[in-house]
Amino acid sequence: MITLITNIKDLLQVRKLSFKKVSGSEMKILPSIKNAFLVLKDDLIHDFGEMHSIPNINADKIIDAKGKIVLPAWCDSHTHIVYAGNREGEFVDRINGLSYEEIAKKGGGILNSAKKLQDTDDDDLYQQASERIKEIISLGTGAVEIKSGYGLTIDAEIKMLRVIKKLSKEFPIKIKATFLGAHAFPALYKNNKDAYVNLICNEMIPAVAEENLAEFIDIFCETGYFNIEQTEKILKTGKEYNLIPKIHVNQFNSIGGVEVGVKYNALSVDHLEVLNINDIEALKNSKTIPVALPSCSYFLSIPYTPARNLIDNGLPLALASDFNPGSAPSGNMNFVVSTACIKMKMTPEEAINAATLNGAYAMNLSDSHGSITKGKKANIIITKKVPTYNYLPYAFGSNLIDTVIINGKIMS
Ligand code: NIG
Ligand code: FE
Repeated sequence: MITLITNIKDLLQVRKLSFKKVSGSEMKILPSIKNAFLVLKDDLIHDFGEMHSIPNINADKIIDAKGKIVLPAWCDSHTHIVYAGNREGEFVDRINGLSYEEIAKKGGGILNSAKKLQDTDDDDLYQQASERIKEIISLGTGAVEIKSGYGLTIDAEIKMLRVIKKLSKEFPIKIKATFLGAHAFPALYKNNKDAYVNLICNEMIPAVAEENLAEFIDIFCETGYFNIEQTEKILKTGKEYNLIPKIHVNQFNSIGGVEVGVKYNALSVDHLEVLNINDIEALKNSKTIPVALPSCSYFLSIPYTPARNLIDNGLPLALASDFNPGSAPSGNMNFVVSTACIKMKMTPEEAINAATLNGAYAMNLSDSHGSITKGKKANIIITKKVPTYNYLPYAFGSNLIDTVIINGKIMS
């Protein structure tokens, strides 16, 4: 099956395969071809270039993209899409004055979602998550990471990860799984937190590895959640089972989690709403990519990750949705990109780099996703007619997507 897209106003994020991520001032550059064509063959990007050099090919389908922009589908490297029900009650509690942390202390928050998930069977859980996956595909996401962490018992964590595995088989977008047993302490372990850490290390991690249910391991390293010692212990055990770290750090406090992440070669450190000079220094000369989650800052009214500080220090940055019921009930990467520009002062070029190639890097996917590169997956967004790509983050809230193509097939 060959699809030829012609008259593309601007074909964005055209890269050689050697670019695995972009850092610092490189992020300001978004290589593109104006008045371009693009050829998709089966599930891969086959060819592209300027319209005047269009090859003579026998295409099965031709799409005229006059006035439209084409870019790689979003790569959303941090989500919790598999969850049961919602937490709209807590949303109203917060409007009425309670903080996210106060709600969690009362047994709400992650424990509220864990109770709901434990009471939901796998088919129901799969159905609920399927609807969210369909929605994010229509919003232009072509690869996504999904975490466990609303189970918090061995059975419920395994149930979540099996649902993620089934989603990855049934849906055409790339789905990567992360084990996040260390998301919160179950009430049962309130006074014996180390016993839960032992359960994670001695039973959950071996069970996850045995069934090959996850590639990554995550921990919520934060005051009141998992401390540095517990984080190190879990990361060490994870490494023994070849689970690659990606950790939640510095959402509310900087307690040294970034340094620990770098020490254990974390692929990414995510959140970073609170960041100090030691954290920045630890990230320099590492392979660990910082990930910002602006929808979470927006929804909880907490500070935004200081993107300028990170990028101006020469570091890379990825953007992700954090789609979850408590702190970011939205998987809309178009909103993420807009919000990064509006609230974090990222340029449109930086934000698009962060949500495509750098997002792919944060999932170990930059060999196959995140840019317009020959041989990469044919996962693309065709926009509606827009003046320039700046219009995409500028016109926040408008749906500017015309067509989403995943593995060479038109989705919507
Ligand atoms: O990334 N911070 C920890 N975990 C999620 C929120 C979880 C929840 O509130 O359900 C996050 O924001
Ligand atoms: Fe998260």
